[in-house]
Amino acid sequence: VTSREAEAHDLLRARVGADTLGHCERVAETAARIAASYGVGVARARLAGLLHDWSKEEMAVELVSTARRHNLPVTDADLAVPYLLHAPVGAVEVRDALPGIDEAVLRAIAAHTCGAREMSELDMVVYVADAIEPGRTHDAVKALRGAVGSVPLRELFARTYSASFRHLLDKRRCVHPVTTDVWNALVAEVKR
Ligand SMILES: [Fe+2]
Ligand SMILES: [Fe+2]
Repeated sequence: VTSREAEAHDLLRARVGADTLGHCERVAETAARIAASYGVGVARARLAGLLHDWSKEEMAVELVSTARRHNLPVTDADLAVPYLLHAPVGAVEVRDALPGIDEAVLRAIAAHTCGAREMSELDMVVYVADAIEPGRTHDAVKALRGAVGSVPLRELFARTYSASFRHLLDKRRCVHPVTTDVWNALVAEVKR
């Protein structure tokens, strides 16, 4: 454990409840394991996993006002489901709390809910880790866990992303426009 990681852990423990802390710790471990199996930087993956839900417990009004203060885009979809803003807001708040933190880690935090059109390897590792950490029980989780290391990382991400997209549809939940964008970019790329 690096001193940066220990510092991050202390700060996180002071601001989130036990459930979120446990989830973050499991995502950190899972991200480290996925990163190791794909030759992606393990320390960065662990740190991004640990910090990804930094702003998850903030109230909707707080998320919206922080996003506006930092000039992050706030669309109608974000106002309808402000919870999704915890990813981009988390990135700006982690930047303030841990000055000098790796920009790649911040990017992975920002991309962990809706994804992004261009996903780095680290972004994909954190996205997948969030979905398959040992506390998750959704239908697709077993198959996704089994695919780690046996399919390319891009394919693992595509499978994870489609499982969460399908879940949104099954639950008749709102689909963020960024999600359809990312999806379209993903399928265009896979076909190529
Ligand atoms: Fe999250
Ligand atoms: Fe999470």
